[in-house]
Parts: sequence; structure tokens; C-alpha cells
Amino acid sequence: MQIIAIAMQKGGVGKSTLARSLAVAASRDGLSVLILDMDAQQSVSQWAERRKADMPVVVFATENELPKKLAQARGVADLVIIDTPPARSTEAPAAVEVADLVLIPTTPDIEPLEQMPRTLRLCRGFSRQAYAVITMANPTSLAEVAHTREVIDTMGAETAPAVLHRRKIHRDASASGQTVQEIDPNSKAAEEVANLWAWVNKKLHFGN
Ligand SMILES: Nc1ncnc2c1ncn2[C@@H]1O[C@H](COP(=O)(O)OP(=O)(O)O)[C@@H](O)[C@H]1O
Ligand SMILES: [Mg+2]
Repeated sequence: MQIIAIAMQKGGVGKSTLARSLAVAASRDGLSVLILDMDAQQSVSQWAERRKADMPVVVFATENELPKKLAQARGVADLVIIDTPPARSTEAPAAVEVADLVLIPTTPDIEPLEQMPRTLRLCRGFSRQAYAVITMANPTSLAEVAHTREVIDTMGAETAPAVLHRRKIHRDASASGQTVQEIDPNSKAAEEVANLWAWVNKKLHFGN
């Protein structure tokens, strides 16, 4: 069983969307996937309510419940994705501590980029491999992504090669409890998620 933590102090950067998209990509690849929703706002749990499907399994977990939920998942789940709340939470450190891989979503905006060093310090403190994931970038601007990569570079951090650009289909998919690859597998958004999942999959060495 492998564990991905999704963490970033800034809210609204696409953490929960990333968690759902990767979880669905992994389950469509035949993996047994559990999302642990550690955000009291429970946006992934609510999505699962709208979804009414077996996979991925979504379970809410407080920091105290985390060890027990992970112990229960062992032997059942291949992949656990932990979605964490924004702000300075105790959930994010708990998730990072148990993770094999940490993904730090950020939009190209200054506010999340200014917050990123905190999350990077947290990951380094636990010696976790961590990568930034650029989300909600302008689909018509190559320069925006290039500049964001440079800024992340100066923090001594690496960025995932695949970018999730700003595409309305992510919102439409969420409204129906789905993800972009389910409502339109031929969409650019679905292609971006597939590229990101292929890269994550390699990092986790599933099937290799
Ligand atoms: N790549 C994207 N393109 C367009 N909208 C997005 C994208 N990713 C997320 N969103 C939307 O942005 C909002 C915040 O995303 P969410 O995943 O809930 O962020 P967080 O969990 O970091 O607070 C949601 O309405 C979501 O549908
Ligand atoms: Mg969220």
C-alpha cells in the first residue's frame, strides 16, 4: 500500500480536485483506492455522496483516527490519497508524516507560491519526497507555467511535468460527483490528468 498526501496551506488551489482526479485515474487502472478526507469541510466526502459509486472509497478521518484508518486499509487498499485542509492545520503534518509521496498543488498566483516554502519545510522535516503540481494555469499562456516553474525552482523544489490547466470541465465533473476523465475522456483536462497520473504511477512504482 502506498500513500500520497496532498498538502498546501492556501485554500482553493485544487487540492481536493487533484485528490479526486488521481484517485479515479488509479481506480480506472485497476487499483483499489481509498481517499482519506481530513478536511473538516469534507468536500471530497460530499463529492462521494453525489457520486454514488464504489470506487474510490472515501472515508473522513481526523488526525487521531488516521493511524487506525491506515491500519484498516492495509491489505485492502493499493493506494491511499490523503486530502488535507488549508490553513495551518495539524492534519497536514500528520498526513505528510505517513506519506510515501507528497504533492503540493499551487496555482500560478503569488499567494500560494509564497506559502509553498512552509509546506516544503514540513516535507523536508520528515524527509519526504515532495513535488509541486501546477494547477489552474491559463491554458493559453506557456509563459505563465514557465515562470511558475522557475519560482518553484528557486525554492529548491521540483515540479511535476504535467500541469492541470484551468478548465471548466473540472467544476462540471465535481457537480455530478465525477472527474474529468469520466465525463469526457477525450477532453484536454482528462489528458492532463492521465499524464499526471502516469508520472505519479512511475514515482510510486506501481506495476513496475
Ligand atoms: N484545473 C482546474 N480548472 C478549473 N477549476 C478548477 C481546477 N481545479 C480546481 N478547480 C475548481 O476550483 C475550486 C477549488 O478547488 P478545490 O479542489 O476545492 O481546492 P482546495 O481543495 O485546494 O480548496 C473548485 O470549485 C474546483 O472545482
Ligand atoms: Mg479541499
